Amino acid sequence: VSQRTFSIIKPDAVKNGHAAAILAEISKAGFKLVAIKKIVLTKEQAAGFYYVHAARPFFGELVDFMSSGVIYPMVLEKENAIADLRTLMGATDPAKADEGTIRKMFATSIGENAIHGSDAEETAAFEIPYFFAGYELK
Ligand code: CMP
Repeated sequence: VSQRTFSIIKPDAVKNGHAAAILAEISKAGFKLVAIKKIVLTKEQAAGFYYVHAARPFFGELVDFMSSGVIYPMVLEKENAIADLRTLMGATDPAKADEGTIRKMFATSIGENAIHGSDAEETAAFEIPYFFAGYELK
């Protein structure tokens, strides 16, 4: 069955000129691009998106980074989209990411790691409407 997941091309990847190459990898892997937009988050919006990490030591850094420049939030669809996107992304730390993964190819560090992907169905159900209205998801 087809499934939707939420992803963000992060500020490091946009600044480094990798956004189009990342979209090409996602497309090659068989994902349909349901929705995409270009935005710069406020710190409040970034903190709200990452609220589950609020108690982590890196939270301030994460919020500053995610509000530091243009991002491309998007909704992707395919069979097994959530797990397959996580595989395509590679490990959070690019130093530990497998060859051929987006983070291996395009990430800078554990914090500036090029791409976000929902880690579970419940997460996607929070993250998709955080950025997109129903009329943008047809
Ligand atoms: P993401 O999948 O978007 O969700 C949480 C983010 O926190 C994660 O990607 C990383 O970019 C970031 N993160 C995780 N661990 C660390 C860390 N040790 N230092 C800085 N950022 C981190």
